[in-house]
Amino acid sequence: MKALLLKETKHLEIADVDIKESVGPNDVRIKIHTVGICGSDVHYYLHGRIGPFIVKEPMVLGHEASGTVIEVGTNVKNLKVGDRVCMEPGIPDLNSRATLLGMYNLDPAVRFWATPPIHGCLRETVVHPAMFTFKLPDNVSFGEGALVEPLAVGMQAAKKAMIQAGDVAVVTGCGTIGMVTGMAALASGCSKVIITDTLQPKLDLAAKMGMTAVNIIKQDLKTVVDKATDGWGADVVFEASGNENAVLHAFEPLRPGGCVVFIGMPVEPVPVDIVSAQAKEARIETIFRYAHVYPRAINLMESGKINVKPMITDTYKFADSIKAFEYAANPKPTSVKVAIEMQ
Ligand SMILES: NC(=O)c1ccc[n+]([C@@H]2O[C@H](COP(=O)([O-])OP(=O)(O)OC[C@H]3O[C@@H](n4cnc5c(N)ncnc54)[C@H](O)[C@@H]3O)[C@@H](O)[C@H]2O)c1
Ligand SMILES: [Zn+2]
Repeated sequence: MKALLLKETKHLEIADVDIKESVGPNDVRIKIHTVGICGSDVHYYLHGRIGPFIVKEPMVLGHEASGTVIEVGTNVKNLKVGDRVCMEPGIPDLNSRATLLGMYNLDPAVRFWATPPIHGCLRETVVHPAMFTFKLPDNVSFGEGALVEPLAVGMQAAKKAMIQAGDVAVVTGCGTIGMVTGMAALASGCSKVIITDTLQPKLDLAAKMGMTAVNIIKQDLKTVVDKATDGWGADVVFEASGNENAVLHAFEPLRPGGCVVFIGMPVEPVPVDIVSAQAKEARIETIFRYAHVYPRAINLMESGKINVKPMITDTYKFADSIKAFEYAANPKPTSVKVAIEMQ
């Protein structure tokens, strides 16, 4: 089948790959429709590695996908041929200790699309466990289906924060992950989400989505938060930039007893201000991808409470997928999510 193959660092090819997958009793085969390009795909393309994960063999990229079921295994009850679906890209060992504890995202044996040595989904078809394949409602498009994956990251962060109705949240970083986290926080009951960045077009988009946008070049975050909360501070701070400075100052806009969720992944280890956290007895949470949130993310899209469509700023056909990656590696400031349509 045709696939977008990362042959080596900075060398992509649309190639015929020999991936033979048979549909097991609990699997489905899916014809891929839309794949979102993630920061991690671009990172593998440009640098060939993320931390300990090194691309040693040519690898198919992509992990944010939607498509149509074209074959179902004999035991599969929840899906049928023709269903429009999106997929969780990580497949854990179902018998692992982490999976039994409900933390299947943390199973050390998890096989995650486009994390070497596992091929991703920028290819014609994939075989996937039915239990990690989710039906899309009629009013949710393939594009939105592909964005369930990043939205799930925001949903996991909102879950960990244990948001209460009326909470005020800060999100540092207005990239894809910051935006979906802000949306998940609003949908989870936050009365206000204050989101920061240095790139004005991204902030303008977040403002259209109902968030209070703060350009940290022009405005001081702490002053804005103090004004919004009578000097008390934000109930939750989501760090979604991975930027060293944002991590260091994450506790500043927080209220006493509030919660900071670290989502961003700094490329190198960075300092955290422990005493600032202690002085507020801050609750500190971290997330690694997500578990058990896809169905709720899809429900929120179906209900209209979360609309990710404006985030899909650039769409390419599969034949132009190398161009799509070249663009995603050096995008306009107005770009948020670059998507590739396979059909
Ligand atoms: N924990 C997880 O499971 C998980 C999952 C997906 C992504 N991530 C991480 O989340 C982070 C964000 O991902 P993304 O795809 O949105 O990246 P992105 O590069 O699109 O967005 C990051 C944004 O942060 C902004 N920024 C940089 N420094 C800032 C600062 N000091 N204050 C405010 N904003 C600042 C940038 O301008 C950019 O718009 C990355 O570090 C990524 O690795 C973590
Ligand atoms: Zn992703």
